[in-house]
Amino acid sequence: MAIKNICCLGAGYVGGPTCSVIAWKCPDVKVTVVDLSVERIAQWNSEKLPIYEPLLDDVVKECRGKNLFFTNDVKSAILDADLIFISVNTPTKTFGNGKGRAADLKYVEGAARMIADIAQSDKIVVEKSTVPVRAAESIQNILYANNKPGVTYHILSNPEFLAEGTAINDLLHADRVLIGGEDSGAIEKLCKIYEHWIPRKNILTTNTWSSELSKLAANAMLAQRVSSINSLSAVCEATGADVSEVARAVGLDSRIGSKFLQASIGFGGSCFQKDILDLVYICECLNLPEVAAYWQQVIDMNEYQKSRFTAKVVRALFNTVSGKNIALLGFAFKKNTGDTRESPAIYVAKTLLDEGATLNIYDPKVEESQIFKDLTHPSICESPEQVRKTVKVCGDAYSATKGTHAIVVCTEWDEFMVLDYKKIYDGMMKPAFIFDGRKILDHEKLLEYGFHVQTIGKQLRKPTPPPRMTNNHHV
Ligand code: NAD
Ligand code: UDX
Repeated sequence: MAIKNICCLGAGYVGGPTCSVIAWKCPDVKVTVVDLSVERIAQWNSEKLPIYEPLLDDVVKECRGKNLFFTNDVKSAILDADLIFISVNTPTKTFGNGKGRAADLKYVEGAARMIADIAQSDKIVVEKSTVPVRAAESIQNILYANNKPGVTYHILSNPEFLAEGTAINDLLHADRVLIGGEDSGAIEKLCKIYEHWIPRKNILTTNTWSSELSKLAANAMLAQRVSSINSLSAVCEATGADVSEVARAVGLDSRIGSKFLQASIGFGGSCFQKDILDLVYICECLNLPEVAAYWQQVIDMNEYQKSRFTAKVVRALFNTVSGKNIALLGFAFKKNTGDTRESPAIYVAKTLLDEGATLNIYDPKVEESQIFKDLTHPSICESPEQVRKTVKVCGDAYSATKGTHAIVVCTEWDEFMVLDYKKIYDGMMKPAFIFDGRKILDHEKLLEYGFHVQTIGKQLRKPTPPPRMTNNHHV
């Protein structure tokens, strides 16, 4: 029997968009997304969705209340489902064995126990969360140790490759859909769901462990490219080469390819660091220390890039930012999302605050409450009151930059490219500095206006000096 009823445990950045697209493309399938958080579900059912993602509003509006439902009623959703996606968070452990590296699987285990507790009929259980290789075995053990007579489970791995900011497009035009499992009947049923819009040739089936590991491998290799180009950006700054020119020249080699070679202040987001740390931990557990050290270097290089950039800001501002007012443009970890998890902007802000600066922060999509939540987190600051006194969240880039000594561009939002920088320059303290951490601005224009400009992976000249004053009396 074909799948008619899907339940998704976890209404987050993956569960929400993925299930919205499934509902949109499979009008004959009922899709119910559940979460333990009452607030999150209320937001999914409101006019303002809990996450910002281009095109998501349209897809949700099209399907919500027809064949797409958001609810806290976990019990009914599991009872009715033929197929259940586990799409819960798998953060890095913050305690105990593997602290700071291993993935914390307590939410995955919680989801598996909920299914085991509630299910009364056969279920296909699909691991969509990113998990350590062989996690499906744990899910299977939990389900079968608590099995009710006559209930059969088939466990599949179906990792998600969407990136935030482009999630709907990524889901609609996936390079590939990956399904790992041992039961061909269950695999076929999940294939049929995706075949509503993904060509069959793009649906890859593998064994469970290959599927689980492929997700960690893909993220590790993507992040590795960013760390590779960022490492070369340091060489460019020291030699006069331009990292954009190097990236273009290297990327035109079809064996290398041009994507993911954009030098930056470092990668952020909820996945890259977490998944590489997990891979490193797995390698250590498998007694593969050389492999672990190899992947650890991708993270170390990212830390180096963040600190190298921030040190450059402080150095340029005459080695002291104490008492200086600095504007941060962008707080999200990349454009077109309001997500700030592991955003490099948090690191930049923390370092500048530690050095005594005051900050004006503007991001088009990150809420003020989220910025303060990030900057007052115990791992970031000792005194939340101090942060509230020294950080101002602004409603636009012009008010954020007015009267400041320097601007630091942390996120590559399109709107930052088209600001009136002459007007901004005129409203700033002099000398006015701008640090383009994303390489998105017209540096020549900025230099002409009089800005001192620094960026990643390129040496820039000093600004054009203002015209010399002439003394007419002596002419
Ligand atoms: P998220 O934190 O946005 O959402 C997870 C949701 O699961 C939360 O709302 C939480 O309340 C809920 N939850 C936890 N336990 C639950 C339970 N037992 N029942 C119902 N709901 C429960 O996380 P996310 O960003 O959507 O990531 C989910 C998984 O997908 C992670 O493993 C992540 O690594 C992976 N992933 C994320 C992305 C991404 O871009 N964010 C991309 C690919 C894969
Ligand atoms: C990533 C993976 O791309 C996606 O496949 C996976 O499912 C989840 O993790 P995401 O973190 O949402 O997606 O965004 P991504 O576009 O990969 O960017 C991650 C970080 O790398 C961002 O901070 C981005 O600014 C940075 N980046 C990316 C660069 O600095 N340079 C690049 O060339 C590309």
